[in-house]
Amino acid sequence: ASTGTTHARGDDFLVVGHRGASGYRPEHTLASYELAARMGADYIEPDLVTTKDGVLVARHEPEISETTDVAAHPEFANRKTTKNLDGIQVTGWFTEDFTLAELRTLRAKERIPALRQQNTIYDGRYRVPTFQEVIDLAKRLSRELRREIGVYAETKHPSYFRQQGKALEPKVVETLNRNGLNRRGAEVYVQSFEVSNLQWLDPRLNVPLVQLTSASGRPYDFTLAGDPRTYADLVTADGLRWVSRYADGLGPEKGQVIPRDAAGFLLEPTTLVRDAHRAGLDVHPYTFRVENQFLPADFRSSAVPADYGDLFAEIAAFR
Ligand code: G3P
Ligand code: CA
Repeated sequence: ASTGTTHARGDDFLVVGHRGASGYRPEHTLASYELAARMGADYIEPDLVTTKDGVLVARHEPEISETTDVAAHPEFANRKTTKNLDGIQVTGWFTEDFTLAELRTLRAKERIPALRQQNTIYDGRYRVPTFQEVIDLAKRLSRELRREIGVYAETKHPSYFRQQGKALEPKVVETLNRNGLNRRGAEVYVQSFEVSNLQWLDPRLNVPLVQLTSASGRPYDFTLAGDPRTYADLVTADGLRWVSRYADGLGPEKGQVIPRDAAGFLLEPTTLVRDAHRAGLDVHPYTFRVENQFLPADFRSSAVPADYGDLFAEIAAFR
């Protein structure tokens, strides 16, 4: 569904480096975040999970066999286990079963080698970063690049971690407080797919909170067993007004704003952006990428190749 247009440029909208520059380095590594900032991202986006000793670290999932070399460590062979992760039985190694010192002995690897073969040359080079290290990196790069590099953090599976007695939320508050970042204007966002997580954070954080939604029919909060409410309920006019009581923004999956037909062509936008704005919510849709096609490193200053036209047509349609 490429439009072939080359006109959209990256200099008049905010760019969030999703999991870093994940088309160029294994995601959620300091190298990936740093490259994203150097390529022009305004924010880097760590997904947060916890270690056994309660340290927030950046991984997309608590289960780490796909994103680290843990399976190649015989000393951790007996940590392999099966857990119920938000209603799904998952077998592997989980961050909450490793101390930070143990996790430090692992090395990151590309999560989707079939799709991002170019990243596999970096397998084994980078550690799993802590949230503190991500914040330190953003501060250092802000000074060096002379523009603010923000942190757009996501709490991953918060009700799962709460059920394990390892709640993420107090650690997020503590870390932002310790770094002087729990204030408006700090260039920090906290986003989550789970409602109860954001509602707990709302009175304790002064940074904007973003309610993520997906086009899936899943419940929006896994602590609410048997509760019929789903993401579809959150994006109604009533749902959005309710969200606006505890959140500042909505992070919809982009297909909830501009659906595609079965052949992949973009359809007319839904009223979601308008409805969310009417409810007083900012809208930060995710994720703008075409797998296997990545933005040129100088995308903010160069003409965008025609191959990227569809991606930019999408971005333009959201503005
Ligand atoms: O910003 C939204 C996005 O990060 C949520 O999806 O799965 O990439 O963490 P995911
Ligand atoms: Ca994320």
